[in-house]
Amino acid sequence: MLAVFVRAALHPGRMKPSRLVRPVTKIPERSLVHQESLPKLPVPPLKQTCERYLAALEPIVSKEELDHTQQLVQEFLKGGVGERVQKGLERRARKTDNWLSEWWMQTAYLDCRMPVPVYTSPGVVLPRMHFQDRQGQIRFAAKLIAGVLDFKRMIDTETLPVEYLSGKPLCMDQYYQILSSCRIPGPKRDTVVNHAMGKTPPTHITVVHNFQFFVLDVYNSDGTSLTVDQIYMQLEKIWNSSLQTNKEPIGILTSQHRNTWGKAYNNLIKDKINKESVRAIQKSIFTVCLDAPIPRVSDEMYLSRGAAQILHGGGARWNSGNRWFDKTLQFIVGEDGTCGLVYEHAPAEGPPIVFLIDYVVKYMQKQTEIVRSPMVPLSMPQKLRFNITPDIKRDIEKAKQNMNIMVHDLDVKVLMFFHFGKNVPKQHKLSPDAFVQMALQLAYFRMYDTCCSTYESASLRMFKYGRTDAIRSTTVDSLRFAQAMQDPAKQGSERLALLQKAVQKHKENTYDAIHGQAIDRHLLGLKRQSIEDLTSMPEIFMDTSYAVAHHYCLSTSQVGSKTDCVMCFGPMVPDGYGVCYNPMDEHINIAITAFNSCEETNAAKFAQAVEEALLDMRALLDDTATVKQ
Ligand code: COA
Repeated sequence: MLAVFVRAALHPGRMKPSRLVRPVTKIPERSLVHQESLPKLPVPPLKQTCERYLAALEPIVSKEELDHTQQLVQEFLKGGVGERVQKGLERRARKTDNWLSEWWMQTAYLDCRMPVPVYTSPGVVLPRMHFQDRQGQIRFAAKLIAGVLDFKRMIDTETLPVEYLSGKPLCMDQYYQILSSCRIPGPKRDTVVNHAMGKTPPTHITVVHNFQFFVLDVYNSDGTSLTVDQIYMQLEKIWNSSLQTNKEPIGILTSQHRNTWGKAYNNLIKDKINKESVRAIQKSIFTVCLDAPIPRVSDEMYLSRGAAQILHGGGARWNSGNRWFDKTLQFIVGEDGTCGLVYEHAPAEGPPIVFLIDYVVKYMQKQTEIVRSPMVPLSMPQKLRFNITPDIKRDIEKAKQNMNIMVHDLDVKVLMFFHFGKNVPKQHKLSPDAFVQMALQLAYFRMYDTCCSTYESASLRMFKYGRTDAIRSTTVDSLRFAQAMQDPAKQGSERLALLQKAVQKHKENTYDAIHGQAIDRHLLGLKRQSIEDLTSMPEIFMDTSYAVAHHYCLSTSQVGSKTDCVMCFGPMVPDGYGVCYNPMDEHINIAITAFNSCEETNAAKFAQAVEEALLDMRALLDDTATVKQ
């Protein structure tokens, strides 16, 4: 999901001075009281970042590379270049609400030319639903829609509770970006539009079934939202009027490489009817995809297959055309009970999305079975029409082929680790997140006999308009711990001490990251500032070590939730893994992805290595605790 950042880091010449991104909606005035009290994202001290950068390189580059980089860093610090760029960045920080947000939005998302499915859009897989038919599917979808509208009420009335992290209030801006918004492809850079605060905020959602899109008005004329019963009836009408399965999967166009889609988009909207239909989707509050059933798999495979289905739709033959991947929020309800959501990443991170899911799931649990009460008949939801010219047809065929390649390339394994959850590390006075991260380090080391650059997302929401920074989980301490676990000469007590030290280091790095003192975004800022200043690119950004540091073979994130679900996303690099985990009290849900085109990676093998690492680390804690008694 951070693929762009890496690519940009590897090709500094590609970065252009920033142009204005279409402004995203800012949160309403009344909420500004809370927003205004939030501190600004700091610019970390230059020397501190340089020192931490060298420390982060130590376990992942050779001695010669490190020596060379040390020299470059010294020149950067002492030669005046670093200080000048740092001053520019500090000036920017004084003049803006958040010195990073616009650059980050461009670098991480809008400039990224890779397709959004698999490469940037995360998915959330909900627990298996036990319906197997159309009625169950529609009933579930109706409750879900009502739940999201109930959540929207909190946004509209600004009654959403402020969230906290480590006792500090968080920026709530992302909640105002996820509804009624959509990404729009551009030939070189995309934009995101948000219609929530426009003159006429939307009152409709889009529903897609058998590749056919419908506008479903979800508010009555008095402003009240439709009831679950009413939504159910409307969905039934949609279902019945989209039974044909031979329609062109127009939505699959949105799965293309962004330049390709940008061109196809301009061609598509030349036609007035197409333009209006596309606009109706873009403007809608969110999209609901009523998916066709997919071939059955064993219970063991069910969640992994579900995750793949959520991430890409299963290919042109199945549900990949039953999407508008540019839409920020798409809820997926399969006829066979596969449910979840896929979201376009530009406007928000996983935690607000999962908070919404938790709310909606709770809301749905409170809903009793549908009682069909007599009601005023509602008008038929409007079917969106598309005129498919031979050019558009050709674009669709190309998109189908490319999507099928992506589907075959994505390797997904969902590991439900039932042996223990957050409880065990907590009992041993260890941070559960750091414990899982060390298990990932150990698993990787056991598979490859080396460690790699590792990215863990850390929230920057303590700051106004804050998004994320990176915790670099691979440290000298994590490497020593992994090496000790593989060294038969090492005693349990020694291994435990190394684990504790590595966990402690990770905890410190987490603290620094969420308090705006990590290195990744600062380095990006220094680099972007150099481009803005139109000076030559400082050597440290052209260095091999910089490329190695940003080649994240492990791209990881914790996204915790109350619902027993798991978030998933694709790897950041062709030879890497994407790992997202949800540590619950008594178990851990972990989604692992890799690319089949890379011979060295294998999601199932890595999942097994993670499982073994977690079990061995627990044994280490238990054995050593027993010895101490
Ligand atoms: N002893 C006992 N308990 C401990 C402990 C210790 N040494 N250290 C931590 N804990 C407890 C915490 O109090 C917390 O308790 P809770 O379950 O009652 O809340 C729990 O263990 C979890 O803490 P920890 O595992 O350390 O992680 P965290 O919740 O602080 O999360 C991050 C760490 C990095 C995931 C979080 O700070 C963050 O930034 N999240 C956002 C991630 C994100 O944006 N992802 C984007 C994906 S698109």
